[in-house]
Amino acid sequence: MTPKIALFASGSGSNVENIIRYFSGNKNFEFPLILSNKPDAFVHERAKMLGVPSFTFSRDDFAEGHKIVSFLKEYDINFIILAGFLLKISAPILETFPNKIINIHPALLPKFGGRGMYGHHVHQAVVEAGETQSGITIHYVNEQYDDGNVIFQAVCEVLPEDTPETIAEKVHALEYLHFPKVIESVVGNQLK
Ligand code: GRF
Repeated sequence: MTPKIALFASGSGSNVENIIRYFSGNKNFEFPLILSNKPDAFVHERAKMLGVPSFTFSRDDFAEGHKIVSFLKEYDINFIILAGFLLKISAPILETFPNKIINIHPALLPKFGGRGMYGHHVHQAVVEAGETQSGITIHYVNEQYDDGNVIFQAVCEVLPEDTPETIAEKVHALEYLHFPKVIESVVGNQLK
């Protein structure tokens, strides 16, 4: 069976683009659609450029869940990747996709996770805490923010001269390098 993977994103979507480019030409993985909660997110521009349909659902639709589940079922989706998606995943979606929803967080969880810890806020907090390391965490999604079982982490150095912006760049580089490979391995293993 070829897995059909939905990508969820709220913002720029550079990870979405990187993932789709990584798998392009690989017939063993399909990425039939992108879902967002923001109609003006740049991820929709990338989707057009990549030729992948993208759709926006409201915050309420994501919170209620059933409409999203029906939509994903129409497309025979069996995995969900959160790539910079900022809303909580509601119970109907979690129950329909047990252990099949994966998130990437731009820090080394359990540090710098939870409500309000996204994007710039995470890197700002890392600087303020005087951390010497940051990195990425790829994890399964459960009903709490940034709390499910960790699948993979990678570390980058934080130097005294680093700013939230320079840390974001280092973290993005780790994301681009590792996220597609981790998706390939997790999804591939689950289908064995
Ligand atoms: C990434 O750093 C991701 O870890 C975080 O949000 C950022 C999204 O960046 N959750 P982009 O939209 O993929 O460019």
